[in-house]
Amino acid sequence: MTATSDVLDHLDTGLWTYREPLRFFGLEIGRVMVVVRLSSGGLLIYSPAELTADLRGALAELGDVRFVVPASKLHGHLYMEQYREAYPRAELLAAPGLDRRRTDLDFDGLLGGTPDPRWSADLDQTAFLGHRWLTEIEFYHRPSRTLILGDICYHVTGDAPLSTRAVARLAGMYGRLAVPPDLRRTIVNEDAARNSVRKILAWEFDRVLVGHGSVLESGGRAAVADAFDWLR
Ligand SMILES: [Fe+2]
Repeated sequence: MTATSDVLDHLDTGLWTYREPLRFFGLEIGRVMVVVRLSSGGLLIYSPAELTADLRGALAELGDVRFVVPASKLHGHLYMEQYREAYPRAELLAAPGLDRRRTDLDFDGLLGGTPDPRWSADLDQTAFLGHRWLTEIEFYHRPSRTLILGDICYHVTGDAPLSTRAVARLAGMYGRLAVPPDLRRTIVNEDAARNSVRKILAWEFDRVLVGHGSVLESGGRAAVADAFDWLR
């Protein structure tokens, strides 16, 4: 049996990440799933990865999977059906628009801009608004002062493959928290987006986890403020 520590990265009290490979337009950018152990003892999975036997074993050592949440209708919903099957008692929550996209899944609820009381002791949340087709749900893990994002920022650093680093450099995204240019170009309501960033920056986070890229261990608030400087 594989030890939990071989499968998941333990970042802080009640906080783990899991990485799986992902190629996007021919570039290896990887994908990050986040596991939060709530004060109640149950687990909340953000952007679930493919549920391999190793991952399932590692999660079993941490606690019961209670909630499975995607970042948005585009990020983090691909394997939700596997969690439904493996954890019949877990609730699957839909990000805005995902319930229409995944009619094969019977969702237990919809995510919005305020946290469910069952996880609000540990996690705050807000919706990133103002994008043409995407409303992403962002979380703040209070005990570890960690901001959890999906696609609104990437963090490509030295551990990424050479070709990925080269493209990130060209796009001015290398070595820092950065909003992908395509997302930046498709903001249709700047006031709404600005307000969303303001809400995020009101949290006292230091660490930032992104859906694609490496962990930013500290200086997160300044890095987010900098990434959205063009908007503010
Ligand atoms: Fe993504």
